[in-house]
Amino acid sequence: MIKESEHADLYILPELCNSGYNFSNRKEAMSSSSQADKHNIFIKSLVEISKTKNCGIVCGINERDKDKLFNSAVLISKMGIVGKYRKVHLFRNEKTIFEPGDLGFPVFKFMDAQIGMLVCFDWMFPEAWRILSMKGADLICHPSNLVLPGYAQKSLPAHAMNNGIFIATANRIGIEKELKFTGRSVLVNPKGEFILEGSLDSEQILSAEIQPESSRNKYITPENHIFEDRKINAYKELLN
Ligand code: ACM
Repeated sequence: MIKESEHADLYILPELCNSGYNFSNRKEAMSSSSQADKHNIFIKSLVEISKTKNCGIVCGINERDKDKLFNSAVLISKMGIVGKYRKVHLFRNEKTIFEPGDLGFPVFKFMDAQIGMLVCFDWMFPEAWRILSMKGADLICHPSNLVLPGYAQKSLPAHAMNNGIFIATANRIGIEKELKFTGRSVLVNPKGEFILEGSLDSEQILSAEIQPESSRNKYITPENHIFEDRKINAYKELLN
């Protein structure tokens, strides 16, 4: 689909898009995992597409690192792997399969944009959006296999607005065993408005042009800066 699409600078694919999601057990997940490096056949094919389309690609992958598995997202360009994130907040039986991410919340430069990545259930945690935003992310790419209907999409406008960022959630459609994936991929702007909303049940490429730098003014009024107005001392109870 990417090869046949009109050019875009950056494509975002769903979570675990080279393996499927609904594993019966860890052994099954292990059998479809691979290292996230330049020898990975799937990554190699995406790097080739990046070269021919002159684009970047963010996608979820089932990453093996020695005897551990991570539910990861990679940012790929024609140069290879530009960045990697490992899902921190694991959903349901993912806890018996994957390790929680151990790379923190990194931000990567791609073209003129600062890019962060979160994976699916990470959406539930305001801290994750906040840390990436405070580290300078303009756009958070969010490969997903969402199953709770509409939950994430209700909260994404608030995460985008509270942090003054763009969010692009690429969500899977269809059924895998007993799980139904809820579709409705979205792109949200720093005002919390939906710029794109996808189908609930059909495969598609949605595209829109954004100005990443428009996320960098964090004043919501002339007197209110959404990061500088935080009162860290008043939040100390959070650390308990
Ligand atoms: C999920 O985190 N894939 C629901």
